[in-house]
Amino acid sequence: MKEINVGMVGYKFMGKAHSNALSRLGMFFDCSAQVNKKAICGRDEAAVKKAAEKFGWDGYETSWEKLVTRSDIDVIDITAPSNAHKSIALAAAENGKHIFCEKPLALTLDDAREMLESVTKNGVRHQIGFNYRFAPAVRLMKNMIDAGKIGTIRHVRASYLQDFIIDPEFPLIWRLQKEICGSGSLGDLGAHFIDLARYLVGDFKSVMGMQKTFIKSRPMVQEMTGLSASAKEDAPRGEVDVDDGTVFVAEFENGALGVFEATRFAQGHKNDLSIEINGDKGSLKFVFERMNELQYFSAGDEAGLQGFRLIQASEGIHPYMSAWWPTGHVIGYEHTFVHEMFEFFECVVNNTPASPDFADGVKCSQVIEAVELAAQRRATVDISSL
Ligand SMILES: NC(=O)c1ccc[n+]([C@@H]2O[C@H](COP(=O)([O-])OP(=O)(O)OC[C@H]3O[C@@H](n4cnc5c(N)ncnc54)[C@H](O)[C@@H]3O)[C@@H](O)[C@H]2O)c1
Repeated sequence: MKEINVGMVGYKFMGKAHSNALSRLGMFFDCSAQVNKKAICGRDEAAVKKAAEKFGWDGYETSWEKLVTRSDIDVIDITAPSNAHKSIALAAAENGKHIFCEKPLALTLDDAREMLESVTKNGVRHQIGFNYRFAPAVRLMKNMIDAGKIGTIRHVRASYLQDFIIDPEFPLIWRLQKEICGSGSLGDLGAHFIDLARYLVGDFKSVMGMQKTFIKSRPMVQEMTGLSASAKEDAPRGEVDVDDGTVFVAEFENGALGVFEATRFAQGHKNDLSIEINGDKGSLKFVFERMNELQYFSAGDEAGLQGFRLIQASEGIHPYMSAWWPTGHVIGYEHTFVHEMFEFFECVVNNTPASPDFADGVKCSQVIEAVELAAQRRATVDISSL
């Protein structure tokens, strides 16, 4: 069997999610190649060595510049924050490596476009980490829309709500610093529903929005793991220069209207991503925290018995489910990463285009920048103007 060697940059939240996915691949899916976790990379040698041992990587590097030139590496997997994506991706592409990159693709639309140009010019395969596309219920939603089950789409309603930075003393993590993340709640959370809306409904035509930074300064961060962080007592404060919350409305190329909200200030909401789509024949709704379920209303149901039905998208006939457990034995967050990795490596081995790819990353960045411009100008912005 063909073997593919992976080098991954970053070893924390996404580093762990991707390592787990790579480890599960061959165990559950009939892959066309054996995927080897060759080397994991980070700047702190003691920490990256520990991660390599814990996550089961063959070895480690402390410089991504070296990792991307290693002749025994075929794929570079980027799980560092957005400010590192571009330089790593450009160097990886120039060295002929296929690339998997976490979202958002880059700090800016221009950078995202440069990354797309580079992977295209160098003929390498590329995919972006919009993992929610790979929830079986979302795949089912897509199949139902394509089969005409809800008819012509009129409305899209999506929100991604978290509450982990409400405390004004929560530290200034990289997700709140523009030079590292590029955009706040919009780029971090909104990127996911922008991609889902594009996947399920189609391309955005124009947007109009508002953004707000509620807490303008925070104590400098001392330690951060996942979405938890701590600061020293009396730590100096730094400026928050990204949005804490963003709301926007949109028109789609196919005429549908959309309403969107991204925030980390929605008390009680932990990782509450939801998207509802209304067509003239029915409606569909997906709520990530109940990811094994899909809500479906059909206007074709018998009069007097109509109502939203709850489909358990966890049977063997649903996308990806036959690879896992007996029917109804539900799956979780981490499985979305296994699914996206399965699709990516199949494309690498078979030399076929991956999806969602860097072009989808560029389109997402285009909507992010359009919303930011619209909020600054207090005016509608056409996506095609960017
Ligand atoms: N798909 C998803 O659902 C999802 C969820 C969370 C984060 N993300 C994305 O994944 C990326 C990473 O986020 P995270 O939450 O894992 O961050 P994190 O802070 O948990 O981990 C970042 C890792 O990158 C390393 N790193 C930072 N700068 C580096 C550099 N210059 N060179 C080498 N290593 C470097 C850090 O040491 C750390 O190991 C971001 O782009 C983020 O938007 C995606």
